[in-house]
Amino acid sequence: MNFRLLLPICALLTFTTFLLTIIATSGSTSNYKPITNIYIGNADISKINVTKVMPQVGPILTVLGSALSAPNTTVDSIFGALKAIASTEALSPLLHLLSNAADTATTLSSLTNLARMALSSSNAGTTAAFSALDELLTTSKNATELLGGFSTLVSSMSTNATSNSSSLESTVLTLLVDSTNPIGTTESLITLNNMTSEEKIQLLPVFELFGNSKNTTATLDALGTIMNSTIPTSLVSSLFNSLNTSIAKGNNVTETITQLGSMVPATLKPAVQAVITLFDETTSQNVTLSVLSTMISENITESPSAKVAMVALTDLLDYSTNQTELLLSVEGLAASSEAASSTNQLVALDEILSSSANASTVVSLVPALESQLAKNTALLQYVPYLFSLLSASKDPVLSFSSLVNITKWAETNAATFSPMLKILNSAEKVTAITPEELKEITPSILEYLQIPVNYRLSIFTMCRAHLNKTMYSCSKSHAVQNMDFRSIVYDNIEGSEFKPYMDALNIGKDDLHLDGQLQDRQHMYVPAVRAALAMNLLCIIITFFLMIYLLLLSRRSVVNQKQWLVLGFISCWVCIFSGLGSTIFSVILNLMKSGSKKDDYDVIISGSSPFYGLMWSGFVLAVLVFLCIAYCWWISRRGAGVVEAEKTVQESDSTSRIIEEHESIIDAEKNFSR
Ligand SMILES: *[C@@H]1O[C@H](CO)[C@@H](O)[C@H](O)[C@H]1NC(C)=O
Ligand SMILES: *[C@@H]1O[C@H](CO)[C@@H](O)[C@H](O)[C@H]1NC(C)=O
Ligand SMILES: *[C@@H]1O[C@H](CO)[C@@H](O)[C@H](O)[C@H]1NC(C)=O
Ligand SMILES: *[C@@H]1O[C@H](CO)[C@@H](O)[C@H](O)[C@H]1NC(C)=O
Ligand SMILES: *[C@@H]1O[C@H](CO)[C@@H](O)[C@H](O)[C@H]1NC(C)=O
Ligand SMILES: *[C@@H]1O[C@H](CO)[C@@H](O)[C@H](O)[C@H]1NC(C)=O
Ligand SMILES: *[C@@H]1O[C@H](CO)[C@@H](O)[C@H](O)[C@H]1NC(C)=O
Ligand SMILES: *[C@@H]1O[C@H](CO)[C@@H](O)[C@H](O)[C@H]1NC(C)=O
Ligand SMILES: *[C@@H]1O[C@H](CO)[C@@H](O)[C@H](O)[C@H]1NC(C)=O
Ligand SMILES: *[C@@H]1O[C@H](CO)[C@@H](O)[C@H](O)[C@H]1NC(C)=O
Ligand SMILES: *[C@@H]1O[C@H](CO)[C@@H](O)[C@H](O)[C@H]1NC(C)=O
Ligand SMILES: *[C@@H]1O[C@H](CO)[C@@H](O)[C@H](O)[C@H]1NC(C)=O
Repeated sequence: MNFRLLLPICALLTFTTFLLTIIATSGSTSNYKPITNIYIGNADISKINVTKVMPQVGPILTVLGSALSAPNTTVDSIFGALKAIASTEALSPLLHLLSNAADTATTLSSLTNLARMALSSSNAGTTAAFSALDELLTTSKNATELLGGFSTLVSSMSTNATSNSSSLESTVLTLLVDSTNPIGTTESLITLNNMTSEEKIQLLPVFELFGNSKNTTATLDALGTIMNSTIPTSLVSSLFNSLNTSIAKGNNVTETITQLGSMVPATLKPAVQAVITLFDETTSQNVTLSVLSTMISENITESPSAKVAMVALTDLLDYSTNQTELLLSVEGLAASSEAASSTNQLVALDEILSSSANASTVVSLVPALESQLAKNTALLQYVPYLFSLLSASKDPVLSFSSLVNITKWAETNAATFSPMLKILNSAEKVTAITPEELKEITPSILEYLQIPVNYRLSIFTMCRAHLNKTMYSCSKSHAVQNMDFRSIVYDNIEGSEFKPYMDALNIGKDDLHLDGQLQDRQHMYVPAVRAALAMNLLCIIITFFLMIYLLLLSRRSVVNQKQWLVLGFISCWVCIFSGLGSTIFSVILNLMKSGSKKDDYDVIISGSSPFYGLMWSGFVLAVLVFLCIAYCWWISRRGAGVVEAEKTVQESDSTSRIIEEHESIIDAEKNFSR
């Protein structure tokens, strides 16, 4: 083999390695066609699972996607309508409403119905009533419970909106206003109201006693004591006999009873004292006597329900600031026939009150609310939708506040809101799309919103590409690219038309759920790329010198052993650097691939075959050069061996010839001497 031919070929191969490595390293710095395809890895987010990455946006996309599946709709028409309200204050509440939907279908159907109300409303009543409820919700400790209570309250109002029941409501509300403990008051009222009519009739004599009392508290206490003690019938009959005669005679009743009391056992003393109190505090001893005898003869004092009622009444009086008012109201309630419905309302009220952190606010708000709702009977028909909307929400308080804001806005911006409403309507009519269908339409939505779907990482730049692989732009070249995937995606969304929606939903960088292996290994990528870059640079530098050296040697007629060894040494390093560079890049790519596969965001990482083609071809050529040099060295070493051997042979020849010559001289001398 002629090394005169081989050396230039090696120089050419080395030059190729040099070029390939340079091209691979510089990567896609521009939109220039073949070069755009050179990158370490491409992250394709076109089918990214939005629900997983931005859970807040998931329900919104489901709604919009469903609307998109309706006939005659395009991405343009849907996002166009959304865009129309993007700059208004309605965007944030609307998105929040959709975003909080735990049940998209229910939310949609409720929302479309409620939106009709917002649009049709010439009544400021809606806003007023909603604002009151909104305020109510902000005081709540447990919005679910509060809404449940309110729902019951309103539905019982709407189905039983008789004048009788509404007067009942106002009675109860007045009591609550006068109460120091609205919850206790309500619960006592429930106890009283839940009694059967027979049980309630038993209570009427009690109210008669109160009606004639000078001191309600004292009378009530005395009655309680009497009811708590079991008085023997013999004692009762003698008591009433004595009292009858005593009153008829106009004697001092207190004295009469005291006389009787001295004869009874100690356990009955409190009861006797209670009877004295009753007579002392009454304005009509006649009435007291007759009522008391009725109560005892009808066993009311023994009745368990009456005992319970007494406890409730005692509590009511304790909490009340206006006993006159209380007794009048309670008497009215006891006489009411609307027992079932008013009990339901009271239970609802109790729920509202106990779920609120500030019962007195509730008490001040509920009357306003009820009166608004009573005035706007048209409004009542929407109330069920309101509750279904809120019960389908993950955060009812925020949802309601959002609804209030939209309603307020829509009242004055009907024209802007109508197209959006149409979309919600059409989304409601079709069946909601499945996650798989959503995945299929994600690329077109991302494309419409101008969110780049392909991110191409080279060493020095990052390029963003459309779905059809044409470029948006590339970043300016700078020292090794940061591979923080979350930042990359976030920054690009920030730069897209999706920004207003992100802002409306308060989605920050940390709200992107892109955590996982891909992100966790992020800190390893940059050092790894740096190392690979260093390998490439060393490879480029050394190939350059190897090439020069090869060219220089190819002009010589002889290349000696030492020179071959130096060539082999340099070429060996080229192979090492080129091989390591290619390997590190491949490892990085595979780490990213496996990471994103494990994270399961439906982000597809793929390598660029031109890039890896360049890198590995460079390596293969370097190996070829090395083999070639090794071969030449081997050949030349053998060649050198032959020359050496020949030299020895020649040397020994000449010696023998000298010896021969010498001998021949000696011979000649010998011959001469003979
Ligand atoms: C869709 O559009 C076509 C043409 O504009 C129209 O004829 C058709 O009635 C529309 N379909 C629906 C469901 O609106
Ligand atoms: C809120 O009320 C609901 C219904 O009454 C109840 O199931 C839930 O446990 C309550 N939540 C809290 C935090 O108290
Ligand atoms: C009303 O009374 C009935 C039976 O007397 C009882 O089952 C029910 O739980 C009571 N309701 C309330 C709200 O106390
Ligand atoms: C009513 O009676 C209670 C106790 O029986 C007493 O504390 C209160 O002072 C009395 N009220 C009046 C106005 O006499
Ligand atoms: C009557 O008895 C009940 C239950 O034992 C008790 O709660 C109540 O305070 C008693 N009433 C009076 C006036 O002592
Ligand atoms: C009845 O007698 C008691 C004491 O025994 C006395 O305090 C009270 O004033 C008398 N009442 C009348 C109306 O005389
Ligand atoms: C009490 O009743 C008696 C007879 O039953 C009657 O004479 C008397 O006037 C009554 N007193 C009052 C204050 O009503
Ligand atoms: C009251 O109770 C007694 C015995 O407990 C009974 O004999 C009497 O019939 C009862 N009266 C009424 C009106 O229920
Ligand atoms: C108590 O209620 C009655 C009846 O509604 C009313 O006339 C009276 O002024 C009230 N008293 C107070 C102190 O508010
Ligand atoms: C409405 O009133 C009727 C009786 O008047 C009652 O049967 C019904 O349960 C009430 N409805 C509600 C929701 O309270
Ligand atoms: C509704 O509007 C009020 C006042 O404009 C605002 O404070 C609140 O944050 C808004 N709520 C939502 C959910 O946008
Ligand atoms: C997207 O992620 C959500 C939540 O993890 C999941 O329920 C849904 O099935 C995923 N979508 C697809 C198409 O895998």
